[in-house]
Amino acid sequence: MTETSGTGATAGESRTNDEVWIVGATGRVGRGVTARLAARGLTVVPVGRSRERMVAAGTAAGLPGDAKVVVADSAELIAAEIARQRPRVVVNTMGAFAATAPVIARACMPGGHYVDPAADVVAVEGLLALHDEAVRTGSTLVTGAGFGVLATEAVVAKLCEGRPAPHRVLVDAVGSVAVEAGVLGAALAASMVDVLTAGGRRYENGRLVTSRLGADPRRLAFPDGEAAKSAGVASGELVAARAVSGAPFVTATSGLVPTAPLIRALLPLLGRLLSVPALRRLAVDRLGRVRIKAAPRPRKHSWGHAVVEWPDGTRREGWLRAGDGMDFTADVTATVTELLARGVGRPGAWTPAAALGTELATTAGGTFVPD
Ligand SMILES: NC(=O)c1ccc[n+]([C@@H]2O[C@H](COP(=O)([O-])OP(=O)(O)OC[C@H]3O[C@@H](n4cnc5c(N)ncnc54)[C@H](OP(=O)(O)O)[C@@H]3O)[C@@H](O)[C@H]2O)c1
Repeated sequence: MTETSGTGATAGESRTNDEVWIVGATGRVGRGVTARLAARGLTVVPVGRSRERMVAAGTAAGLPGDAKVVVADSAELIAAEIARQRPRVVVNTMGAFAATAPVIARACMPGGHYVDPAADVVAVEGLLALHDEAVRTGSTLVTGAGFGVLATEAVVAKLCEGRPAPHRVLVDAVGSVAVEAGVLGAALAASMVDVLTAGGRRYENGRLVTSRLGADPRRLAFPDGEAAKSAGVASGELVAARAVSGAPFVTATSGLVPTAPLIRALLPLLGRLLSVPALRRLAVDRLGRVRIKAAPRPRKHSWGHAVVEWPDGTRREGWLRAGDGMDFTADVTATVTELLARGVGRPGAWTPAAALGTELATTAGGTFVPD
């Protein structure tokens, strides 16, 4: 690959080169996104802390052996390289998004674009808070570019099309993911610990309020005849469903939250324990090293689901069907990235369907049920 040099943009300039940087290109999501974008002919540059691992992962993903890589091992150092070299789009899959996303996204401005698959309330709200800055600098920032947020947000947006703001929205995200053999990994471990420490959230009268993690456990019967359990969580889906609908009352559940009564009863205590910084570090470290066995995905489909209610009693329900949840996440991140690289997308900070429309969900391989 030929290395393209940055233009050294100063404040007010928005020139970028034609590169798409993948932060975390050796990880599960990063590898999938790298392979998809390389196959679509984009100039992909892996960014991470080990040159050797990036070259190996890049080659496996279809990049030439001598492809450019950028070596940097923290969000701050990565941001400094972005500011120096000016890639057109940066995809962040390094995790810990509440901390890393604002640092990396700010470095993309002016004019460069940013994408991440964050799925927690703090990270999604934090990135959306950069909206005015992004509008001023002509950058498009997309957070939540993964299964959970898009699969629910797109259904809510479709159900609300051409109607006034509803009174109440309920969204459920139940992914079905094949497990790769190997270690769990620090990024995923950190996300799991963050879910436990964040506890639950819901919107009441338009305000984000605390609720219990694992509240409102439910059994979902999917349109394909399969079923799964889900329970309340403080997720990016919640923020996206509120933003796209304008409903004052919003709740979100996820298939990732344990629904067994004993475990649900222990979740608040576990969350409090893991809020202690030393225990959090220990838990992320230990969990990240856990070796897991390969396993097929438990159900054929991943499902996003929404129920929307209006003050006059009208109630509408819809689904988005996808295949493997991890593959769909890589498809969504890659599709958003490709669109931004090609100049599609309005300046601002958005969730994926808000940035690029509900059809993004079908472009990325999902199917609305009913159509
Ligand atoms: N929205 C969704 O539906 C969805 C779905 C899947 C995943 N996710 C989220 O996406 C994130 C990535 O998941 P994953 O399964 O791909 O994780 P992963 O396999 O652990 O990959 C993490 C990547 O980040 C890199 N990295 C970690 N710390 C770094 C640092 N300090 N400097 C530079 N690079 C660093 C790792 O590089 P090394 O090779 O050096 O370790 C690796 O390439 C997680 O936060 C996960 O929760 C969201």
